[in-house]
Amino acid sequence: MVNVLFVCLGNICRSPMAEGVFRQLVAEAGLSDHIQIDSAGTSGYHVGETAHSGTLRTLKKHNIDYDGRSRQLNMVDFHEYDYILAMDTSNLRSIRNMMPTDTNARITLLLDYAQRTSIRDVPDPYYTGEFDKVYDLVEDACRNFLVVLRQTHSL
Ligand code: 4NP
Repeated sequence: MVNVLFVCLGNICRSPMAEGVFRQLVAEAGLSDHIQIDSAGTSGYHVGETAHSGTLRTLKKHNIDYDGRSRQLNMVDFHEYDYILAMDTSNLRSIRNMMPTDTNARITLLLDYAQRTSIRDVPDPYYTGEFDKVYDLVEDACRNFLVVLRQTHSL
């Protein structure tokens, strides 16, 4: 099993979007039994809440149902997850600041895997309202990330 965790600040807008998109891509590839997916926030601001209505609406447009609840990143995640994908450089800094020395997790920006953009940070739709733009960026990166995962792990 390969374990993948998407991380943003609140775990209500961007990382649930990435989780939902990636889960659908993995299911379409018939790899749901091989890749486990979750998301979390570096903050605990919204713990227990459903995803933002904008994220849910955009996912729904693409026939993706999402029923996850916000949770905060914790130390166990660094041992359970093989890949931790941050939505922006601020999230990446927070993750690295709390990272234990003995983690084997590969910690990168999600958009390091994007092919159609040179943007590195997924803009935060909590402030911009641009949920569809987030979807496009996330989908591009998730597609390529899945290609890389399949090659790396012979899936
Ligand atoms: P997210 O967006 O990190 O993509 O879930 C945000 C959600 C909530 C807040 C900031 C960003 N907030 O400050 O409450």
